[in-house]
Amino acid sequence: MHWTRTIQRCALALSFGVAAFVARDPSAPAQAANTSVAAETASRQTTGQEWWRHAVIYEIYPRSFQDSNGDGIGDLKGITSRLDYLQDLGIDAIWLTPIYPSPGIDYGYDISNYTAIDPIYGTMADFDNLVAEARKRNIRVIMDYVINHTSDQNPWFIESRSSRTNPKRDWYVWHDGKGETATDKGQPPNNWQSWFGGSAWQWDEKTRQYYYHYFYVQQPDLNWNNPEVRKAMYGVLDFWMQRGVGGFRIDAVSRLFEDPKLHDDPYLPGRNAYGDRNIEHKYTDDLPEVHDVLKEVRAVVDRYPGDPVLVTEADEPNVQALTRMYGNGDEVQLPMDFQIADVNELSAPRFRELFNEIENNNAHGQPEYFFSNHDQRRQWDRYGDGVHNDQIAKLMAVLELTTRGTPQMYYGEELGMRTTDPARIEDVHDPIGRRGWPKDKGRDGERTPMQWDAGPDAGFTTPGVKPWLPIPPSAATYNVETESKNPDSIYNTYKRLLALRKTNFALRDGSQTAVDNNDPDVFAFLRRSGNATVLVALNMSAKTRKVSFHLAGMGVHGSLLSPLYSSPSQSTAPTVDRVVLAPFGTLVAQVQ
Ligand code: GLC
Ligand code: CA
Repeated sequence: MHWTRTIQRCALALSFGVAAFVARDPSAPAQAANTSVAAETASRQTTGQEWWRHAVIYEIYPRSFQDSNGDGIGDLKGITSRLDYLQDLGIDAIWLTPIYPSPGIDYGYDISNYTAIDPIYGTMADFDNLVAEARKRNIRVIMDYVINHTSDQNPWFIESRSSRTNPKRDWYVWHDGKGETATDKGQPPNNWQSWFGGSAWQWDEKTRQYYYHYFYVQQPDLNWNNPEVRKAMYGVLDFWMQRGVGGFRIDAVSRLFEDPKLHDDPYLPGRNAYGDRNIEHKYTDDLPEVHDVLKEVRAVVDRYPGDPVLVTEADEPNVQALTRMYGNGDEVQLPMDFQIADVNELSAPRFRELFNEIENNNAHGQPEYFFSNHDQRRQWDRYGDGVHNDQIAKLMAVLELTTRGTPQMYYGEELGMRTTDPARIEDVHDPIGRRGWPKDKGRDGERTPMQWDAGPDAGFTTPGVKPWLPIPPSAATYNVETESKNPDSIYNTYKRLLALRKTNFALRDGSQTAVDNNDPDVFAFLRRSGNATVLVALNMSAKTRKVSFHLAGMGVHGSLLSPLYSSPSQSTAPTVDRVVLAPFGTLVAQVQ
């Protein structure tokens, strides 16, 4: 067993071009590895050649990707069986949402053991095999690192709640209630609210104190001021790095610390879907100590070769806060840009402004772009206008895949999968969907099974087996098998753009500068590298638009455009002076 793993790790070192990779006994304490690795990493960072700068990340919701054993739930063997598909599509890394043992209240985001695999997804051997098979195809595996909270069934919390003097008491956030007496639990310590509705404080009768939970009651927050918590959670990083993962996506990172003085959060007007007063999470979000943790996490993973990447779920309120996630190049490489993901309308001025802002971030950090994930309604309907959705899906693909950052896709977006909410409250899995019904139907709608073929089970599970969430009716036409036969499908649009990104230097590496800055409908920009210039133009309106670009002032003198991709495909050759874009039409062209 030990030998097998050593061989696998050496294979990783070779296939990813890593110079020095020393296999270690996973049970040995992680030590700062050799300094030459650190020096090598530092020099690679300044040359800008790290793999994640040119990678396309693909988020997989393991429950919904591919079932291999006929229980209606996706699993690791299922993912492994679909690696050829991902390689053929042009994916470089997969991010797996949590696959650790969990009671499943928040579908894996409530973890009871950080260093094991939930049997529903398979075994550790299945995981090792997935990493090894992915590596053969030059695909890295990124793990979800859920560190704000654990499950209430995690042995750490079970101990913590067992008595006020338990050594793990301080691993979580415990406080007395207001006006508590021997017989009365009083009121919660303050007005802090859970993101998922109701008070963020839960009374625990046994030890007569409240514990804090930013998310569900079953997800108590860890106390990141406690050094033992840090040590334990950094050990988790070592565990998975030693199994050959390519990095981590850090969950809910801005929620790690709370105001020790317990100030009340300010209320905002109105109420949310759960009936609570709206509130600004001023004293529980983005406290400065978050950055100490990010630096420490980075230092742990940087002991390993192969340029491990950190991605953060950073739903920051503005570009300044987002930029802080990069630190001085010593925190996160890829903070997910929620500003851009959540424009939520096709607005050329708004996209232009936000892309400009992040392109010019003063940390010179690499942007990370995405439009869909397992918490958000899918982009097909969120950006679709109800009439041109397929064309808009292609426009969104161009926006995501021709801009300069690292794109992050969500499984099935390449097919135009749409959000399919449960029809009845009885069918809802995600607890917030039951709590918020019908205003907020929860997140099941964006987590439906991957659509592989036109059959009744969409190729997701064994015929006749009921999948954990129903197959959307749209699977009959929006699926891999059907779309791969149609050169004009959304799937083939993604495939072509992904290939283009890899082969065209300007698209792969070039700078990005917006042009035609006052156009209300067309968002256009140049990607430039050396003498090569690519123009990308996106008509974000339902009108046909004729545009002429004035590029001479930017030092671009060519006037011919040779299309690399356009949709719908252009019948007459465009020139810089005359580009005609159909409603929601796009053009990606080399300037000659
Ligand atoms: C993140 C996850 C989400 C989860 C929450 C609590 O936002 O993406 O799915 O519910 O954290 O862990
Ligand atoms: Ca299964």
